[in-house]
Amino acid sequence: MRQRLAVGNWKMHGNLPENWALLDKVAAAAGGLSRAIASVCVPFPYLAQAQSVLAGSKVAWGGQNVSQHPKGAFTGEVSAGMLREFGCRHVIVGHSERRQLFGEDDATVALKAGAVLAEGMVPIICVGETLAERERGVTEEVVGRQLGVVADRLGAEGLKASILAYEPVWAIGTGKTATPEQAQAVHAYLRGALARCDKSIAASMPILYGGSVKAANAAELFGMQDVDGGLIGGASLVAEEFLAICQAADG
Ligand code: PGA
Repeated sequence: MRQRLAVGNWKMHGNLPENWALLDKVAAAAGGLSRAIASVCVPFPYLAQAQSVLAGSKVAWGGQNVSQHPKGAFTGEVSAGMLREFGCRHVIVGHSERRQLFGEDDATVALKAGAVLAEGMVPIICVGETLAERERGVTEEVVGRQLGVVADRLGAEGLKASILAYEPVWAIGTGKTATPEQAQAVHAYLRGALARCDKSIAASMPILYGGSVKAANAAELFGMQDVDGGLIGGASLVAEEFLAICQAADG
């Protein structure tokens, strides 16, 4: 059976007092989860706080980005080794905001995923098409290319230890969720593409859906055959919403 997850992506939100309250609530309630893993990917300065509140709880934590370089003269960057020192389990790579706003290309995303794996953490590799690409009918081509570059770089060994997230760009932060059928169709395509590389990896890799997931739609989305949970932005900042989504992932 595949791992089920609900991963919060706080993006550039939060402050120390609000984080304490949110993390405390999530840690307390996540004890009731039986099979799903809850995780929160917080801004770098809050990793120590996440570590101190969540250590010993059932909730994992992680980063939202990482440098592809192990160390050196890269002002403003954060290495995978640094994230590991703060107990991160997950690191998001290739989020569409990184691709679109910070110019990250497929090759860079692949290097970042490799850097995360090299430090023994789990990359959550994001793929997804823009609205224009969906309307042009090239969704599969786009996500297939994004996955292909990463798969070539990581090989079967690296892929086996990774998580994939399908995040249609048009659904992120817009309130426009993909329908369960739209999500399932792309997830099935991605699993098929993985199967051409390695059948057992395709069968075992969690593929998360992200894009306006909320308590009200999570169960329906996560009920689809190839949807193994979610990557949750806005709704992960509200304890009750995020916990309800975790419950939906727990199924
Ligand atoms: P959203 O963001 O849930 O706010 O749409 C998802 C994401 O960007 O990971």
